[in-house]
Amino acid sequence: MGKKDTAENVATYSVITQIETIRKLHSNLLREIANALQKRRAPTLGIFGIGGEVSPYGYFPRWFTDNVGEGNVVVLDYNPKILGMGYRYLNSQQVFDSFTPEVHLKSDSSIEELLQGGRSPPLSIVNVNPDVVIDPQKSGDRRFIFSEANFKFPLRIAEESLDAVDSTLALHHVFAYTEDVRRIFREIFRVLKPGGLFHLGEASVNMRRSEENIEKIRGVLDDVYFSDERDPECMVRIGSPRAKYRLILTEEGHFEIDNDEDVRNKLSSHYTFTVNDGKIFLPLIDPVRDADFVEAVNQYYLRNNIEKARLLGIMDPSQKPFTAKRIQDSIQQGLIEKGNAERGLVEFYSPQEFLITMLREVGFDVRSELANPNRTEAPMVNIYASK
Ligand SMILES: C[S@@+](CC[C@H](N)C(=O)[O-])C[C@H]1O[C@@H](n2cnc3c(N)ncnc32)[C@H](O)[C@@H]1O
Repeated sequence: MGKKDTAENVATYSVITQIETIRKLHSNLLREIANALQKRRAPTLGIFGIGGEVSPYGYFPRWFTDNVGEGNVVVLDYNPKILGMGYRYLNSQQVFDSFTPEVHLKSDSSIEELLQGGRSPPLSIVNVNPDVVIDPQKSGDRRFIFSEANFKFPLRIAEESLDAVDSTLALHHVFAYTEDVRRIFREIFRVLKPGGLFHLGEASVNMRRSEENIEKIRGVLDDVYFSDERDPECMVRIGSPRAKYRLILTEEGHFEIDNDEDVRNKLSSHYTFTVNDGKIFLPLIDPVRDADFVEAVNQYYLRNNIEKARLLGIMDPSQKPFTAKRIQDSIQQGLIEKGNAERGLVEFYSPQEFLITMLREVGFDVRSELANPNRTEAPMVNIYASK
């Protein structure tokens, strides 16, 4: 990314932050998913990463009963509190008059955590076995399943069991590497029925820079054992532990290598590093060489937060769900995401061409649409992929 590109991109990224664009993204998704479901008898919908207040479906709680018809819903999220919020909210909207709610939690999460902070709704079924493979069509009842699941790992869902899957603004939280993105796309392809629809709602800030940096430094050192420890749940290790050099990418997003003259010579023409306590340190996102990248990310989150703060003042409280508390929480969330971006851990804000190419490689038929057609530069995209 050159300086000029960066200036243009920063202007473009700011559009992403506009709440109306998110609403547009959501309303397109609801319309398309409804169309896809209505063509199918007793369809099953998968929602991957539901968010608090089950947004976007929370705007229209009757949406499920109206559009899923005689079918089923499977909600996956790795946060039991979010599953609990969704469960309580839909319960309060009488969505479960027509569905049988079911909850699948990891054995180390307690049901109390799920129900924390609210009046306990009557749970029809509590299945505390996360290892069960979900086959939503197995029982005769209409099912609404909330399952604690992490997209970093294979989905515990039966093959060809879903008619449509929506994942909006969720998958960019998940991965650090391109290969991981391909893996979840393959998984979604596997669980969809033939002709099924995958809706991917994403934003397209390019944060693949850190992956390129990892490749570059491994190339410079050549005979190297690489250990990526940024995400304790998913450590990545490449090369033989007997290799000449050991390159550790720490949880803070810094490379660490034993201090050695050879290494310093190899690195000196490419990187700015510091030496301390017998170790060489260099940042994953180099603030000197990659200033353009850091600046773009900073601008993106800064504008995002300013826009949200502005809405604090002007939002009509009757226009749920943007309450002051929610906006403050999301500003906090934005700061966490910014930290993750600097560690190279929010990688999936990728240009739509990149996502589309990968979906096609996995076997999908793809079409895409900008979330706000009146702003052709808007980087928030709805991607529809059919199996
Ligand atoms: C920003 S919310 C999006 C919610 C909703 N789809 C929307 O469009 O408003 C992202 C959701 O993804 C979930 N999520 C993030 N990383 C995840 C992971 N590794 N596995 C499962 N869910 C994840 C979060 O808990 C959160 O509910």
